[in-house]
Amino acid sequence: MIHSLKNYFLLGMLALPFLFLACEGPTAPVEEATEKAPDIEAAIDSLMSQLTLEEKVHMIHASSAFTSGGVERLGIPELIMSDGPHGVRHEHGRDWVKDEGVRDSSTYLPVGTALAATWNRDLGYAFGSVLGSEANYRGKDIILGPGLNIIRSPLNGRNFEYLTEDPYLNAEMTVGYIKGVQDQGVAACAKHFVANNLEYEREQVNVEMGDRALYEIYLPGFKAAVQEGGVYTVMAAYNKFRGDYCAHSEYLLDGILKTEFGFDGAVISDWNAVKNTMEAVNAGIDLEMGSDLPMLAMGPPDYGKFHMGDTVVTLVNNGTVDVALVDKKVRRLLRTMYRINAFGEREPGAYNTPEHQRIARQIADEAIVLLKNDGMLPLEQSATKTLAVVGANATRKHAGAGGSSQVKAFYEVTPLDGLQNLLGEGTAVSYAEGYTVSREGGSDADLIAAAVAQVKDADAAIYVGGWIHGFTDEWNDNAYDAEATDKESMELPFGQDELIEALLAANPNTVIVLMGGGPIDMRKWQGKAKSIVQAWYPGMEGGNALADILFGNLNPSGKLPMTFPVKLEDSPAHKLAVTGFESLEQNYTDGIFVGYRYFDSYEVAPAFAFGHGLSYTSFGYDNLTITKEDGTVTVSVDVTNTGDVKGAEVVQVYVKDDEANLERPAKELKAFQKIKLEPGASQSLTFELDEDAFSYYDDKQNKWVLEPGTFTILVGSSSRDIRQEGQFTW
Ligand code: GLC
Repeated sequence: MIHSLKNYFLLGMLALPFLFLACEGPTAPVEEATEKAPDIEAAIDSLMSQLTLEEKVHMIHASSAFTSGGVERLGIPELIMSDGPHGVRHEHGRDWVKDEGVRDSSTYLPVGTALAATWNRDLGYAFGSVLGSEANYRGKDIILGPGLNIIRSPLNGRNFEYLTEDPYLNAEMTVGYIKGVQDQGVAACAKHFVANNLEYEREQVNVEMGDRALYEIYLPGFKAAVQEGGVYTVMAAYNKFRGDYCAHSEYLLDGILKTEFGFDGAVISDWNAVKNTMEAVNAGIDLEMGSDLPMLAMGPPDYGKFHMGDTVVTLVNNGTVDVALVDKKVRRLLRTMYRINAFGEREPGAYNTPEHQRIARQIADEAIVLLKNDGMLPLEQSATKTLAVVGANATRKHAGAGGSSQVKAFYEVTPLDGLQNLLGEGTAVSYAEGYTVSREGGSDADLIAAAVAQVKDADAAIYVGGWIHGFTDEWNDNAYDAEATDKESMELPFGQDELIEALLAANPNTVIVLMGGGPIDMRKWQGKAKSIVQAWYPGMEGGNALADILFGNLNPSGKLPMTFPVKLEDSPAHKLAVTGFESLEQNYTDGIFVGYRYFDSYEVAPAFAFGHGLSYTSFGYDNLTITKEDGTVTVSVDVTNTGDVKGAEVVQVYVKDDEANLERPAKELKAFQKIKLEPGASQSLTFELDEDAFSYYDDKQNKWVLEPGTFTILVGSSSRDIRQEGQFTW
């Protein structure tokens, strides 16, 4: 429906040369589009010569809640956007009023941390292709994802939307996601550029950090998004960086993103992130979305009053602003439109297909992490005549909450649903809530007693707890894993610790399943639990994936994309940072020591390490060889499934600089490959590492430097489960 409206614009004056562009099929991958760049640039030149100043300015700010201004006279459509990173958000209409009765349910994919926990690049692409296809169906030109801010503190409310603590894994999973979206003819949007690593006062916080941390940790995901993923749009973050709003930062937007990285697409502000006309016009923000105007209080706001609205026309006319600054913004918006074939007939996209649901299931299958297993799992279905399931998260649906990443899920299989689907009539499944989800939520003795009574005599018992996004789908109810809020601690809410201890005392074989976007303080019961499973928010098929893993129909293969500290005080963002977590001045004095880079360099034992994840089988590593020829180091290793069930292993390659002139982390992830092996089967893997893999960013010379000397290559099943290592000299 929306597309037919968009084609209405074709009635505008489109000179013949554009028609061959309009007749293109779905947008070709970026490299092909680049080959056509001269034609796109010529088409842009032509439109630029026809646009009036008023029309240009109309294009560089919002025309509704999720659209930028179009120019009907010339057949230039509005750019239509939608959240979010793990599913196409429901319709908001043009002014933040949910449209009722429209077909706007979506495939609810597993969240970002779950996708990263698969360590499967192909699934990154598949994830993006589902998102792009459904965005296309819904008439969206831009899907506002991936979220790729580094997971720095366990408390950040939006960690669940992001991917990882490691810059290399961040880049590798981001690239596939972006290509998947954009091969569907929809623009992806890498967000939030940069250093939006907490939600506390996110529109006012100023982040300071050294150039080594910026270039080695926080930028690589965005650099890969631009240079390898070919991302068409980037979203500027709310926060300030070194004193300037990211949306007004010439250093970040013009200097790093557009000049250093060569980004030629459009920079969109986060909603209400633009605060000043002259700063925004002079900096490389191309489109102002949202407004700090009281959106609803004024009814549909006068979008001309935006900072980059009508006032810019006045400023150009009185010579204060050079029209060339406006032209640059408009050109990037037009380039984005051509890249997604917005002027032509587009592929229709698809709506909640079985194939999309299958992909959501596969991602969930490969995301769930087996953290601990003292031989308890997998459960034996034929021996399980009675199963006790405990915990409010076993029946809770999460899709619709969390903030802008909310999804009206086409359906959502909860853990209890999944277990009942799998076990059918053969097993009597009982359920006890165990705890109540409420802001007042403390432990409830009656609920605990009822849950204990159930697990006591059951053949098997499964607890499902962890975090939630909030109490309802409303913004003012956001909590824990949600936008615009951070966690207050790593402690489980609602008295869950007390409940878990009681359950384990009653039935030591109770399996502990945790949902959420990141680490939890498990000290009170971790030693007593025989099996612990991290399930993230595993999407619409998550319950089925979890059931298959717990009962052994599927061998878990997820690996942690972030470190699980024993306690919050061990986290470098809290231990090394000189500024408090809730402070408007955020000085990242933890620097490059983020995540395992800190834990391994400072020799602090985590609860569970970056890259950790157990399997129902085992893997042997042998025959590591390291050769160096010209600028390439080739690492080879043989991996064997030494157990008796098929399984997948993520072989991880870390690099250590043994004799650096300046401090470097104890190890850095520089390659990985996920392989699937039948029992007894082996596979030889080869990784080629170029100079970048061994270089550091020299903040004195402002460039990447490879310092000759000895390096150690460490190959293993996690950052702390190294199976083979060897040295070589560069
Ligand atoms: C939000 C988020 C951003 C989202 C945008 C539109 O405040 O920060 O991620 O895409 O606004 O909803």
